[in-house]
Amino acid sequence: MYSKKVMDHFMNPRNIGELPDANGCGEVGNPVCGDIMRIEIKVEDDIIQDIKFKTFGCAAAIATSSMVTELVKGKTLAEAQQITNRTVAEALDGLPPIKMHCSNLAADALHEAIKDYIKKHRP
Ligand code: FES
Repeated sequence: MYSKKVMDHFMNPRNIGELPDANGCGEVGNPVCGDIMRIEIKVEDDIIQDIKFKTFGCAAAIATSSMVTELVKGKTLAEAQQITNRTVAEALDGLPPIKMHCSNLAADALHEAIKDYIKKHRP
């Protein structure tokens, strides 16, 4: 039911943890299941130089968090803002339909972290 990519990112999540020198942070909860995700970003010259996540959630939530960090590392903020839950699910070769809501968490936490950075660093 889960693709090989989902299983890989669930078993070996990338960029897990905290970023002590983060300058943007987003935390969201999934209203469907109550799971929580936190994403921290380090932005320099409008580029996401580093990103880490912590997720208290299901396998799909952990895999989508991990994938979103890989998708946006080294990207500009404008490019990262284009990421949607669908982009993340497609990058994982799909999610079971019943698990699509889990991918909202990753995209939403990323967008919140970008908003937080912009609020703090742009007049
Ligand atoms: Fe909660 Fe997947 S069941 S994020």
